[in-house]
Amino acid sequence: MSEFNTLDNLKEIKGKTVFVRADLNVPAKDGKITDTTRIDRFVPTLKELINKGAKVIVASHFGRPKGEKKSEFSLDFIAPELEKASGVKITFIDDCIGDKVQTAISNMKDGDVLLLENLRFYPGEEKNDTSFSKDLAQNIDIYVDDAFSTAHRAHASTAGMTNFIPIKVAGRLMQEELNALDKALENPEHPVAAIVGGSKVSTKLDLLANLVKKVDYLMIGGAMANTFLAAKGYKMGEKAMVETTMVETAKTILENAGTCRIILPIDLMWVDEFAEGQTPHYADVNHLPDDKIFPDIGPKSTQEFINIIQECKTLIWNGPVGAFEIKPFDTATNAIAEAVAEQTKQGKLISVAGGGDTVSSLKKAGVQSELTYVSAAGGAFLEWMEGKQLPGVKVLEK
Ligand code: 3PG
Repeated sequence: MSEFNTLDNLKEIKGKTVFVRADLNVPAKDGKITDTTRIDRFVPTLKELINKGAKVIVASHFGRPKGEKKSEFSLDFIAPELEKASGVKITFIDDCIGDKVQTAISNMKDGDVLLLENLRFYPGEEKNDTSFSKDLAQNIDIYVDDAFSTAHRAHASTAGMTNFIPIKVAGRLMQEELNALDKALENPEHPVAAIVGGSKVSTKLDLLANLVKKVDYLMIGGAMANTFLAAKGYKMGEKAMVETTMVETAKTILENAGTCRIILPIDLMWVDEFAEGQTPHYADVNHLPDDKIFPDIGPKSTQEFINIIQECKTLIWNGPVGAFEIKPFDTATNAIAEAVAEQTKQGKLISVAGGGDTVSSLKKAGVQSELTYVSAAGGAFLEWMEGKQLPGVKVLEK
């Protein structure tokens, strides 16, 4: 990864107008935030800028209003939460460009904070439109990007507007994300293992292709493992989730793994129905029953995955190894999560995980805070694991 500037590189912030691109796209239900992680993790950057006397303009998207002003996508309900999390007064402005914003900026005192309305209320945001970018950048001295989770989008607030602001740096959360990801995949301590789970091979092709070049062990779980097992010639039965169109691709991935060892499950859990409270049964992959569902990997596979984790110095994890939302299909994911947490606690493993489902499964296993780093990003984490250059990171490069 290239070098990038951070808040440490800013000489004088006092009195400067600083635009901070945050990702306040938090999960919410009926107007209530269900998980404040993204707000909480943005607070250190916000407080640092305030304490250094900047005039802080916070901007974010929320949901996908598709370029239209829709009240259900307003960011107004975030202001009190941000105020609560930071202990600082936040003034909400119901627009993100134009006179209202400019007047508010001109009335700001050092240490004041404005929260702008949803950037995606204007089509120019997602189109990375030049005129919208210029409007966002008007009267801004410094650009701070603290939204790694939106860095895979080349939008006006993550890319375009930086052309019109001379100073651009990473906020603390962005810095933390980039450093953790660098340690996990760009400059890791070997041996390095990756766990990739989830349901479909087709959504993780680029990721698998990049990982086999970088890691020593690639452990595959989740329903996507079924497709790989089919590619190895195992009989999966009628009801198993196998992406039949991807079997040939899975074969190619297995054949081209080079020095990377791809580890597939050696046994699977089987049940009659995909429903809570099923009695779990187990079978080796060469003796799988014909008309059953395989919602999790089995205990032998779990132990093999754990043995590899115990041998490795770095682990990167994307995707649960079973259908963890339903009990007892979370058995293997929980056991592996606990082993990862334990190795990390003992200082033997650098463990980095990311992706919506992965984070939920770690939370459910109660170990989220015990890994070295859990990314706040979903799509951006995936694209980074795929080896893609993220537009929102590129603009910060020195
Ligand atoms: C996310 O939640 O992954 C980010 O906020 C990006 O949101 P988007 O997928 O709507 O661009």
